[in-house]
Amino acid sequence: TTIGFIGTGKIGQTIAFNVLMGGYTDEAILYDIIPDLPQKFEHELRHALASRRLRTEVMGTNSLEDVSSCDVIVITAGKPRKPGMDRRNLFVENAKIIAGLARELPKRNDAIYIMVSNPVDMMASIFMKLSGKYTISTGDQVETMRLRSYIAKVLKVPVNYVGGYVGGEHGDDAVVLWSTVSIKDEPVRDKVNKEEVEKYVKDIPGDIIKVMGGTTWGPGTIIEEIVRSIVLNENKVMSIAFPHYFEDEIVHISEPVVVGSKIGPSLESLLDEKDRWHLISATKDFYTFYKESLGKLQIVV
Ligand code: NAD
Ligand code: MLT
Repeated sequence: TTIGFIGTGKIGQTIAFNVLMGGYTDEAILYDIIPDLPQKFEHELRHALASRRLRTEVMGTNSLEDVSSCDVIVITAGKPRKPGMDRRNLFVENAKIIAGLARELPKRNDAIYIMVSNPVDMMASIFMKLSGKYTISTGDQVETMRLRSYIAKVLKVPVNYVGGYVGGEHGDDAVVLWSTVSIKDEPVRDKVNKEEVEKYVKDIPGDIIKVMGGTTWGPGTIIEEIVRSIVLNENKVMSIAFPHYFEDEIVHISEPVVVGSKIGPSLESLLDEKDRWHLISATKDFYTFYKESLGKLQIVV
C-alpha cells in the first residue's frame, strides 16, 4: 500500500507518524509547499522506522508530480484556526488550496481521499465535487472519542465500557447521538449531565488550541485508526463523514458507518427519531452555509 500525505504541518506529521509506526504501509509520500520540510520529516521518520525495524519506504517532496500511484491520500494542507475562531471561518482560504489539489492529485492517483483540513466536511465535499473522486472526511470520529473519554472520566469507568457516537458536522454543530450512548451495553439514560457532556465535546479542542497551538495527539491517533481500517479492510463502525446527496450537492455528514476498503453500510436506520431529526437538521444547515460559501468562490469552483 502507498499512502500520500498532503501537508506535513502539525497534524499531518502526527498522522503520518502514527500510520507509519503501524507497520502496514509499503510506501509513504510526504508533500508540503514549505521548502525542505517534507524532506527533513522524511529523515525523522526513517530514524523512527529503523528503531522499529520497519521497512516502509518514505519520500519527502515539494513537487506534486512525485505524488503518484497512491492507494490512500490524507489531506491536511491548509490553515488551522486560531483561538476564538470558528472552523467555518477557514472556508474561503482553505477551499482555494483544496480546489488546487482536487485538480492535480487525481491525474496521478486513483486513491481514496481522506480530508482532514478544516472545515473538514465542507472541504471533503469541495474536493469530491471538483475531482469526481470518492472522498471522506474524518468528521465526527474525533468528537466520538472525545465523548467516550469524557463520560469514562466523569463516571470513573474504563473507557472501553463506553459506547456511542457523535454525528452531523465536525465542529460546533456536531450532535451527540444519545440513542447510541451506552455504559457496559446499557443505555446511558440520566447517568450523565447531557449538557455538560455536549459542552465538553465542543469546547475542548478550542481550549487545547489556546494552550498547545493546535490539536495533534488525539486526532492524530483517531485518524490513523480510520486509515488503518480502510487499508486493512477492518470494517470498524466509525462516525466519519461520507458523501450524501442533498438537493443539488454532495454534502459530507457524519453518522456511524462501516469503514473498510469500501465505506458502508451506514447504521443510520438504527438511530432513534430524535437523533435522525438532528442529522437532517445538520444536513440542511451544512447545505445552506456551503452553498452561500461556494457562491463567494466563483473564481475557483
Ligand atoms: P499547520 O499550519 O501546522 O500545517 C499545515 C500545513 O499545510 C503547512 O505545513 C503548510 O505549509 C501546508 N500547506 C499549505 N498549503 C499547502 C498546499 N497547497 N499543499 C501542501 N501543503 C500545503 O496546521 P495543522 O495544525 O497541521 O492543521 C492543518 C489543517 O488540519 C487545518 O485546517 C486544521 O484546522 C486541520 N485539523 C483538522 C483536524 C480534524 O480533526 N479534522 C485536526 C487537527 C487539525
Ligand atoms: C479538532 O477538532 O481538533 C480540529 O478540528 C482542530 C480544530 O479544533 O480546529
